[in-house]
Amino acid sequence: MDVTGSADRFRQACDEARRRGDVVGFVPTMGALHQGHGRLLKQARDECGFVALSIFVNPVQFDSQTDLGAYPRDLGKDRAVAGALRTDLLFAPTETEMYPGGGPEVTVDPGALGERLEGASRQGHFRGVLTVVSKLLHMAGPCRAYFGEKDAQQLALVERLARDLDFPATIVSCPTVREIDGLALSSRNARLSPQERRAAPALFDALSAAASLARGGERRADVLKAEIARGIGAEPLARIDYVAVVDDATWEDATSVQGRARALAAVRFGDVRLIDNLVLPEPAARSVQNTSEPEGSPEER
Ligand code: PAF
Repeated sequence: MDVTGSADRFRQACDEARRRGDVVGFVPTMGALHQGHGRLLKQARDECGFVALSIFVNPVQFDSQTDLGAYPRDLGKDRAVAGALRTDLLFAPTETEMYPGGGPEVTVDPGALGERLEGASRQGHFRGVLTVVSKLLHMAGPCRAYFGEKDAQQLALVERLARDLDFPATIVSCPTVREIDGLALSSRNARLSPQERRAAPALFDALSAAASLARGGERRADVLKAEIARGIGAEPLARIDYVAVVDDATWEDATSVQGRARALAAVRFGDVRLIDNLVLPEPAARSVQNTSEPEGSPEER
């Protein structure tokens, strides 16, 4: 595996791969690699001749210095994980390499969706995410870029970025990877105390209970949201930040679940803020037609 901190070298390596006829697969991350990232890298490896991984803890997407400072960093370990997964190139730039002027003056406006849900809780977060993703996609050039469905709002915004600003990238969505008790893998999980770790699956359990109600025919978004809030609220260590049910295409708040919808929640366990989401089953007639589709049900229990 080639390891570089140089944006020029990253760009060149991707250009050379395309000249050889390889499809470039690109997995942007902030490091602290876990099996969720491993899932993205494996899918990229299966689908592409050349796989590039970036590791950059992007200060511009953090609204709190404490959160930025607490973000886990272990390049040595990440390097070993990436190598074991047969990554071809690891791009790990410094802040100066990414933001030579000390921070971008021109940034990417994420639009209205960028201000809601995660965007409302974390001021400027998605502007920072889309700005760094734009820079990385420019460096990678035409590619397949892999993002996890756990960060569903980020994924939706990156898809809109690529569509609205004509990036020559195919955005590939990969399913959430979970612990055996349902907790979605996240670099933040390592910061949970043992007690908080035991409490954290309440988030997935509550979303699953709403998915099960929807599967049983419940269409009212208020009822589904109340079920999620009730489930999380039953866990004394959990503090709800938000619970939402949105139309999965428009990301508008749903009043009634008619087509494909998504239930989302953000919850604090102590100082650690976790997010998760599940696709809500479509009405019975449509889900029968869709049983061969991989989305939705496998991750629900
Ligand atoms: O999901 C992440 O790890 C980050 O938000 C990303 C997409 C790498 C941008 O910094």
